[in-house]
Amino acid sequence: MVEEAALAPLAAAVDALGLSAGPVPLGSVTVAGAAVQPTGVGEFDRVLAGGLVPGSVTLLGGEPGIGKSTLLLQVLAARAASGHRVLLVSAEESAHQVRLRAERLGAVPPSLFILEGTDVNALPGAVAEIRPDLIVVDSIQSVAAGSPAPGEGRALGVPGSVSQVRECADRLVSLAKASGVATVLVGHVTKDGALAGPRALEHLVDTVLSFEGDRHYALRLLRAVKHRFGPTGELGLFEMGEAGLTAVADPARLLLGDRPSGVPGGIVLPVMQGRRTLPVELQALVTPMAQAPPKRVAIGLDQGRLVLTLAVLGQRAGVPVSDLDVFASVAGGIRVTEPAADLAIGLAVASAATGIALPTDLVAVGEIGLAGEIRQVTNLPRRLDEAARVGFTRAVVPGSAPAGPPGMELIRVQTLGEATARLGCAVGGR
Ligand SMILES: Nc1ncnc2c1ncn2[C@@H]1O[C@H](COP(=O)(O)OP(=O)(O)OP(=O)(O)O)[C@@H](O)[C@H]1O
Ligand SMILES: [Mg+2]
Repeated sequence: MVEEAALAPLAAAVDALGLSAGPVPLGSVTVAGAAVQPTGVGEFDRVLAGGLVPGSVTLLGGEPGIGKSTLLLQVLAARAASGHRVLLVSAEESAHQVRLRAERLGAVPPSLFILEGTDVNALPGAVAEIRPDLIVVDSIQSVAAGSPAPGEGRALGVPGSVSQVRECADRLVSLAKASGVATVLVGHVTKDGALAGPRALEHLVDTVLSFEGDRHYALRLLRAVKHRFGPTGELGLFEMGEAGLTAVADPARLLLGDRPSGVPGGIVLPVMQGRRTLPVELQALVTPMAQAPPKRVAIGLDQGRLVLTLAVLGQRAGVPVSDLDVFASVAGGIRVTEPAADLAIGLAVASAATGIALPTDLVAVGEIGLAGEIRQVTNLPRRLDEAARVGFTRAVVPGSAPAGPPGMELIRVQTLGEATARLGCAVGGR
């Protein structure tokens, strides 16, 4: 339950937009101010369909320690390096800390300014003084819109509370619209992945970016959840290292670099992440059941799809797993939840259960139906193109699949049983 105050701040934000009072022909509206400005960090610009739009507000969400501050400091430095004045409002870290990080990441451009503190009311003055064309606020949960004098006005609570976050976001959005300065807000996410603070925050801003990855791995994924100035399908790939985040030109090197060969249970699957294809390695291991009911452990995979695939494997493909504990995981810290992974999961488990390794030049894509049939998946040609590009030469695909890229042999299968039989990992084939 959240106490709702009057809508005054939102109304003020709308006022600040300077919306014309009367209707005008759409054709007469000027569009000069809306051109995107590239920041200079290629993968960041790619996700934003070119760069940041002046006066727009972007919210960057991500788990603690994933690299939000690092990414945005690099964006600021890159923009500043091309001669623009930029401002970092650091409410979480001291100027000293930020300076140390900036030095670790590279040069510290003279037109990169920092405002230390948590009071958003200090911002309009700073903007008037510095005239930046990009502001980063790190983070929206740690700034405050000042506390009212005792007995006067409503209390806003501590920074991070719903009312403070909303009030601060309102003021920052009004400032961005009024001054035409592109603004990026850092937002923390809660354990279940939602942005902390009011849900309304996502409606208030123009763009919501999500920065993801597994802290134990170097790979980081940046995607747009909502974008008012372009499509949301793009994916940015970064690698976290000593010198900060670098663009990943060849994800296959990072994802498949340490793949063992000749070990049963391993297979590669070209997954779609937005509009990008990533080859990921899927591994399965089976052990005799330690205790009933048998364990089904899915790491980076959808638990429900693993259980469904195991049921089909036992009932339709003749690979019984009901007395085995099954562990399945995706390497590299990537999460694969699409049904297109079913066939690869089924083959990996069949391979682990029979002890027969799958060929290392093989990928598999297909959705498994409850009758054991293998169904068509989205973007199959793209997935196979990418698999061929990184050196795979054979693919297990649904029977109805169109022709594959040159140099790629397609193994068309109608059912999961046919797939395990053709790859020699059916029970009785050992
Ligand atoms: N000296 C270093 N060398 C390599 N990587 C480092 C170094 N210092 C920090 N890192 C990486 O940077 C990450 C922290 O990045 P950053 O502070 O940008 O994250 P954040 O998302 O802003 O976190 P928070 O939510 O706490 O603000 C660390 O988890 C670590 O992976
Ligand atoms: Mg941070």
